[in-house]
Amino acid sequence: MCGIVGYVGKQKAASIILEGLKRLEYRGYDSAGLCVLQGGRLDVAKKAGRVDVLVKEAAKHHFNGSTGIGHTRWATHGGVTDANAHPHVSSDGKFALIHNGVIENYSGMKKFLIGKGYTFQSETDTEALCNLIAYHYAKEPVVKNGGSRFLESVRKSLRHVEGTYGIAVLCLDCPDEIVAARKASPLVLGVGDQEYIVASDASAIVSHTQSVVYLKDGELVHLTPRTFSITTLDQADVSPVVDKITWTITDADLNGYSHFMEKEIFEQPLALENTMRGRFSEDGSTAQFGGLNLNAAEFRQIDRFLFCACGSAWHACLVAEHLIETFARVPVEVDYASEFRYRNAPLDRNTLCWVISQSGETIDTLAAMREAKRKGHRVLALNNVVGSTIAREADGGIYQHVGPEIGVASTKAFTSQLLLGAMIALYIARMRDMSFSDGAQYVQALKGAPDLVRTALKQAPQIKEIAKRYAKHADFLFLGRLSLFPIALEGALKLKEISYIHAEGYPAAEMKHGPIALITENCPSVFLVPKGDVFNKIVSSMQEIKARKGPIIAIVTEGCELPPGVADDVITIPDCHPAVLPIVATIPVQLLSYYITLERGCDVDKPRNLAKSVTVE
Ligand code: AGP
Ligand code: GLU
Repeated sequence: MCGIVGYVGKQKAASIILEGLKRLEYRGYDSAGLCVLQGGRLDVAKKAGRVDVLVKEAAKHHFNGSTGIGHTRWATHGGVTDANAHPHVSSDGKFALIHNGVIENYSGMKKFLIGKGYTFQSETDTEALCNLIAYHYAKEPVVKNGGSRFLESVRKSLRHVEGTYGIAVLCLDCPDEIVAARKASPLVLGVGDQEYIVASDASAIVSHTQSVVYLKDGELVHLTPRTFSITTLDQADVSPVVDKITWTITDADLNGYSHFMEKEIFEQPLALENTMRGRFSEDGSTAQFGGLNLNAAEFRQIDRFLFCACGSAWHACLVAEHLIETFARVPVEVDYASEFRYRNAPLDRNTLCWVISQSGETIDTLAAMREAKRKGHRVLALNNVVGSTIAREADGGIYQHVGPEIGVASTKAFTSQLLLGAMIALYIARMRDMSFSDGAQYVQALKGAPDLVRTALKQAPQIKEIAKRYAKHADFLFLGRLSLFPIALEGALKLKEISYIHAEGYPAAEMKHGPIALITENCPSVFLVPKGDVFNKIVSSMQEIKARKGPIIAIVTEGCELPPGVADDVITIPDCHPAVLPIVATIPVQLLSYYITLERGCDVDKPRNLAKSVTVE
């Protein structure tokens, strides 16, 4: 829910930190700040607002030091002000700290420290940890066995923390050192040539080195320009495993698009091809996955699935539920991760749990996974970030391979999750009653999905024109049925999260049970109207809305004939296999929300109050 970056090495830290903060800004953007340790001073620049505001502020400072830390904030404790921006400096002036997470017991900490004479300049929870480190450092002037007093003060302080943290700390007495640590908030170490970068994710690192160490919960890393060491809160040594980042910085660039969301919408055909690559059987009749860590016999014993996730990923779970139950005839339960972790759900022993998370760091989804594992269940993860916490703690899973998704509104990651859900449904169905020929036909349909998405994307100019006519409305309904009900939910989420228009998704028939009261000529409805068993029922719902002068945008599949006048605007998508329909139907709702947002002049990639990965509760 925020971005942190630290640098120690032979280059000037400030420019590397500011570049890293720009790369991390999608993670949180209320305020930004940096601190460089130079000339015996902790030199800090920090401001409410975007990183660009900080860049101007930083220009007033002569940052020449080669050790520094930086932060982009998503506020949890204390308003969006300069004083609450990170880094925070301890009241004795000895430490600077940046933090991603929530310190739940900060009030008690703060009260204790005030009693010891420490003062506070901010309303944040973070500042309490900063002063606690200073307190332990002052209390322990000497560390036995020649250890680092700086590192031990941080370690002792973290043992008192209840909550979550990803931190980086500077100490005035240790001019070319950084101590960083994590618990539930992500932290990655970039290993360069006598220089190190620690950051919330690889996007701040990849332009400097491809070699990374993914830190685990409870680990601390101590950096100097020459070396680094990793230990645990219990002072155990950790042998680092150096991984390679599999993508390049151009994957995280706009490459000529106006916004990351636009780029990622139009990247979807390639993203789907990358998701599928190498994942169909030799005989072409089913899917195959390398990382489930369950053999066919074990998988066949499963008689129920539970899916947990948040936001768009939860919508993907609902589509997976529909497809698995339709094609594999195995019951599926879907739960919000934030609900599952506390409701003590009764699960029978042959339930396999899945979590879906693009970032692999969403704390509610991580907690739901840990809750399922505590109950003794295997948990598999659909995830897009190699080395993310969820990817590492799951019992197996499937990487999405769609490359970094920078836009806060999920697009290519979402349709990739839909595709993987369809592939999982096929995999299970072919273990049960689906025939070879039906499986082969299903595989061909999935392989054709990228081209169908390309066709749907060709409607962009028409949708852009439609968006102009609907951008002024304050309320929208999105209505769909069966496998397209979750797409109605996704369309409503897309619109509300980037244009700030109030939008709700419902099963189409449900609008008679209350939401129709909202219908006036000022409340448009977007209907997803595919060919099929419920086509006439959906048209009836449209008639009921039209009878009350509600404007209607209809998204229909090729060959659908709507009664004249029932829809004010019609967007046609290709007709396709039921397993591919949710993917193709998603394209127009993504484009509609994108173009309406442009019309309203809102910030497409960094919408207010949001951040790309929700790593705080
Ligand atoms: C989707 O557009 C939102 N940005 C949000 O709902 C997101 O899907 C949710 O926070 C889950 O994120 P995750 O997939 O990284 O876990
Ligand atoms: N809880 C800290 C604050 O409110 C950090 C929030 C974040 O993760 O950005 O400043």
